[in-house]
Amino acid sequence: MAASVGEVLISSEQLELRIQELGSQISRDYAGKDLVMVGVLRGAVVFIADLLRQLEVPCEIDFMAVSSYGSSRDSSGVVRILKDLDDSITGRDVLIVEDIVDSGLTLNYLMRNLRARDPASLEVCSLLTKPERRRVEVPIRYTGFEIPNTFVVGYGLDHAQRYRNLDYVASLPEDSVPTL
Ligand code: PRP
Repeated sequence: MAASVGEVLISSEQLELRIQELGSQISRDYAGKDLVMVGVLRGAVVFIADLLRQLEVPCEIDFMAVSSYGSSRDSSGVVRILKDLDDSITGRDVLIVEDIVDSGLTLNYLMRNLRARDPASLEVCSLLTKPERRRVEVPIRYTGFEIPNTFVVGYGLDHAQRYRNLDYVASLPEDSVPTL
C-alpha cells in the first residue's frame, strides 16, 4: 500500500464482484438496444475498462473529458468540456460511466448537455456515490457503492493526479498531503 494512503474502503475483490454484478444487470437491460458507453475522463478509465469486459451485449465506447475540480478537493461548480465525444449519440442508448458522483454538478451538466443531442435513452452508471455531498439531485441508474463523506483515491480516482493506479479504493487522510 502507498505510504500516505489511509484505510482501504473497497478491496480489489469487492470491486471485481460488484462490477460483475453491474455487468450482468446492464447486459440484461440493454439486450437488443444500441448501447454507447460514455466514459468520463480521466477518473472513469479504470472502471469502464473493467465494466466493459463484463458486458455480454454489443456496445461501443466513447469518451468525454470535463473538469470541475482542478487539483483541489472541492468542486468549483464550474464544468468545462476539455474533450467532446468523437461520434454522434442521436437515437442511441447512452450510458454515462462515472467513477464518482459527489456534488452531482458534473453529472447534472453532462446529462443536460448530452440530452440536448437527442439520444434514444440516457442513463448513468457510477462506481461510487457520496449521497451526503449532493448539491443537485441526479438520477443514477446503476451504482457500485455508496460511500461516506471521506476523500477517496485509487481505482481511477486521484488526488493531484496521483493514486489512480491503486487496484482498490482507499481514504486519503486530510493531513497526508497539503490541501490545495
Ligand atoms: C471527478 C469525477 C466526476 C466529478 C464528480 O472528476 O470523476 O467527474 O469529479 O464530482 P461532482 O459530483 O462534485 O461534480 P475530476 O474533476 O476530479 O476529474 P478526473 O476524473 O480527471 O479525476
